[in-house]
Order: sequence, then C-alpha cells, then structure tokens
Amino acid sequence: MENLDEKILQAKTLEELEKVRVELFGKKGFLSLEFAKMKTIPASEKKAFAEGLNNTKERLQTLFDTRYELLKKEEIELILQSEAIDVSLYESRGEKGALHPVMDTMDKIIDYFVALNFSVESGPMVEDDFHNFEALNLPKHHPARDMQDTFYFKDGGLLRTHTSPVQIRTMMQTKPPIRMIAPGSVFRRDYDLTHTPMFHQVEGLVVEEKGKVSFANLKAILVDFLHYMFGDVEVRFRPSFFPFTEPSAEVDISCIFCGGDGCRVCSHTGWLEVLGCGIVDPNVFKAVGYENVSGYAFGLGVERFAMLIHRIPDLRTLFEGDIRLLEQFR
Ligand code: DAH
Repeated sequence: MENLDEKILQAKTLEELEKVRVELFGKKGFLSLEFAKMKTIPASEKKAFAEGLNNTKERLQTLFDTRYELLKKEEIELILQSEAIDVSLYESRGEKGALHPVMDTMDKIIDYFVALNFSVESGPMVEDDFHNFEALNLPKHHPARDMQDTFYFKDGGLLRTHTSPVQIRTMMQTKPPIRMIAPGSVFRRDYDLTHTPMFHQVEGLVVEEKGKVSFANLKAILVDFLHYMFGDVEVRFRPSFFPFTEPSAEVDISCIFCGGDGCRVCSHTGWLEVLGCGIVDPNVFKAVGYENVSGYAFGLGVERFAMLIHRIPDLRTLFEGDIRLLEQFR
C-alpha cells in the first residue's frame, strides 16, 4: 500500500500520473483486481475485506486528485512562463525613422503660411497646357516657355513644370479673396548637381479687392518668412521677369555659408537666390475671369531650401534612396 501511495507521489508529470492512474484505477488495474478477489473470499471475511479495500480506494483517489491538481497547475505555470512576453523589456536595436529632409523643410514652410491663415491647396501632377502655361500668360510659342523644359505626353498633356497651375485652378473654383499656398511635386527635363527631374515647389498666392495689396505687402511677408527659415540674413529683391507677374522680382538672401564675403556656394557674389515673386499680371486674372482685384504671388523650390539649410552639396543624393543619407537626419 505504501508502495502505491509512493507511485502517485512520485509522478513528476501529468503523463506519468496518467500511467499510474491506469495501473491503479484502470479496468485491469490494481483496484479492479483486488475487488475481483471478493468472489473467492469466505463470506465471513467479505465485509472486512470490502471495507478495507474501499478505504484504500478512497485514500488513493484523494491522493491522486491532489497530485493531479498540483501537476496541472505546474504545467500551466510552465506554459505561461515559456510564452511570456516582457513588454517592459528595453529593445535598443529598434531603428527610428526620420522625415526626409525635403519633406521636413516643406512642413516647416507650410507651418509658416498656415499660421498666417493661408489655405493649403493642391492640383494634379498631370496637367494640361491651359493651366500650366496659357492661363499663366504663357501663350503658345512664347519664348518664356523655354525657361521650363517640359515632359509631354503624346495626347498633349504634360507633367506640371511648376505649382503655379494650382493658382489657376483655385481661382477658377473659388471667389476672391484668396490666400493660399500650393506645395507639391513638379517635373522638368533636368539632371545635374542642383537639378533632378522631379522636385518640389511651394507656390503662394494672395488676391484681394483692387488696391488692397501691394508689392510692399509681398515684400514684408517674404522678408519675415526668409528670416523664419534662415535666421538673421540680409534679404534683397532683384528685378526679374516671370510671365505671370508684373513687376517681378527674384529674392536673394546673404550667403549663409560665408556671411556675404563670397564663397564657392554663392559663386563669390555673397548672395543666394531663393525665390521668385511679383504682382499678379492682369492677363492671369483675365484668364480666370477675375475683375477688380489685385494680388501677389511667389514660388520657391523646396530642395533648394533643404540643400541650403542642411548644406547638402549634391541634390541627386536626396533621391537615391540610400538609407545612410536619411540616417543623418534622425
Ligand atoms: N513658377 C515659377 C517657377 O517655377 C516660380 C514663381 C515665380 C512662381 C514667381 C510665382 C511667381 O508665383 O510669382 O520658376
């Protein structure tokens, strides 16, 4: 009997215990065999024998049940342990992403104008001649079209060469006053140190009742914007030409690399050109059916800003998808 108790107590796993169960309680197990002996036992001893056996059976059953509960608990514990995940464990190998410097710069530009209540507009990258050129006072065969080398589709459609067509679309969809920027990708047949076939621009347009905005407003907002982007720099407006503005200007900042003394980046001029702007040409308003309004517009290349801010010498590296470049901007 001691021996049977031991058997139960020494079972280390549920599997071992199951074997013991068959041995003790099974059809051909110990208890079955013992009870079978009842037939051959003299009637006078039967009662005592049966009582003894029933006690044994009860004791073994209790012992077995207790052991079973214990082993079951242990097994669950083991499973829980082996499948446990320590969510608080610090994983130092995690790679952090970073915004692409062009997108980061774009966000910074957008933030500035959104804070001044400009709306953010967008338009299609596949444009038509009317929105990209014609309505912007660039009639067919106008020599200024050569300023932008265009990708054309066979059906006459084209990849927009600037974000200026969004001006046209916005004006045709809404009534003045307008105060908008249009950030987005643009495309030109160009590829060298400072040009890629796809790059990004932010266009700006303000339209008010005639006489309410002037070049002075344009100048004030752009000077403030350039200080926000580049810090304490000199800003200079240089007369220039764009078909969609009259008068037009190009805007320079004092070279952020040499402070204006002259270096390789500024071609020893002390100045860096950063954007184009002007007073909206009356022909543009005519094209969209606006009357009695005046406005100003500006356009800038986001890559140029990013290159200057981050001192990136070759623009093409921004679009080669080399993770080592992005890692530097984390
Ligand atoms: N669209 C011009 C370009 O891509 C940039 C530009 C210049 C936009 C002057 C303007 C502007 O709105 O007034 O070179």
